[in-house]
Amino acid sequence: MLKIKIGKGEKGYPVYLHHGLLHNGGLLLKHHFAGGPFLLVTDKNVFSPYGEICTQSMRQNGFKPYMVVLEGGEKDKTLQSAFKLYGEALKAGLDRKSFVVALGGGVIGDLAGFVAATYMRGIPFVQIPTTLLAMVDSSVGGKVGVNHPQGKNIIGAFYQPSLVLADLETLKTLPRRELAAGLAELFKYGIILESSLFYQIEFFLKDSFFELGSSTFQKLVAQAVLTKGKVVTVDEKETNFRRILNFGHTIGHALESATSYNYYLHGEAVAIGMMAATYLSVKLKILKSKDACRILKLLERLNPPLPPAGLNTAEVLQALYSDKKKDSGKLVFVLPSAIGKGVFYKSPPLAEIREVVEKYLYQRPGNEISDLG
Ligand code: NAD
Ligand code: GLY
Repeated sequence: MLKIKIGKGEKGYPVYLHHGLLHNGGLLLKHHFAGGPFLLVTDKNVFSPYGEICTQSMRQNGFKPYMVVLEGGEKDKTLQSAFKLYGEALKAGLDRKSFVVALGGGVIGDLAGFVAATYMRGIPFVQIPTTLLAMVDSSVGGKVGVNHPQGKNIIGAFYQPSLVLADLETLKTLPRRELAAGLAELFKYGIILESSLFYQIEFFLKDSFFELGSSTFQKLVAQAVLTKGKVVTVDEKETNFRRILNFGHTIGHALESATSYNYYLHGEAVAIGMMAATYLSVKLKILKSKDACRILKLLERLNPPLPPAGLNTAEVLQALYSDKKKDSGKLVFVLPSAIGKGVFYKSPPLAEIREVVEKYLYQRPGNEISDLG
């Protein structure tokens, strides 16, 4: 079993990573909490394969899970769902010594974490991520929250979990499309922050896709977690450096928003955003085309979907310019400057942005990037 320490001091917490870890989840919980009742939040798709495995181990170790099974999906990430969970927590008699466990993907983690952050002014919570995206991204770093009808993740907090239990075995039931979306976030760390991770991904993707059960895959996930951990330790509240994790998200969010969050998976939109940002970086003479080719080759493997009928560049640009990550009215892009390195770039020319959006909205990169010089 791998144990990765995130953060420092009181706010530090371990991430445990292992195949089949859910069977021993209760034992690991015992190191952090006295037994007793807790709220276990999950969704239908996760409950059916993992609900029983998870609760059995917890019961055996003196815990009393109160399980709430939600429908699942982004529509659950609302204040109404949070309200329902507060009611369930009260019904279960949870007090300030109790805790909340999120068993599921990023939706469940963000929502249950938000409930933990606000119930009785904050009680501890545990992340048990079951999607790759949640393992390498949302379960680490303490961003919790819900959506508002006027925007995604508008209501929330920075609230760190007490521990994270990631069982890679759970990825075996994850739909392939969700897996590819999670890989986009994993690749992100290699492209923008950690060249050694990039080279390993490149090497292992040479012939085929990853074998989920392999120790190699476990190591790649661990490195991604470690890389994110370093960033959020330096800048927990995203005042500065943490914004590096927004690589691919500027255009990615615009794509999601222009399609009302019901066409692209988050990781798919980010993958397209990373392709466009990579090309933009070459055009702005920040990134060498040789490095861009390697990055794009990797991202192409994720094969994100082409746009829905009717979506055009103008709509994406409009969404882009109303993006909440505008910095003093300026659009800030994270651009790769070399493999494993990124820079912030304010207000690239509109013509260049339009060109890269146009290109990656409709077509996937071919060899022509190497002609850019
Ligand atoms: P998700 O939680 O909706 O899960 C995706 C789908 O997979 C769901 O249908 C779910 O029921 C199903 N599922 C989950 N685990 C499964 C398993 N092991 N086997 C079979 N099916 C399974 O989506 P996600 O991609 O994990 O997370 C997306 C959410 O995460 C968004 O709301 C996004 O805003 C948020 N997010 C948060 C952060 C953060 O730092 N807090 C970072 C990135 C994304
Ligand atoms: N998902 C980006 C972050 O946690 O900051």
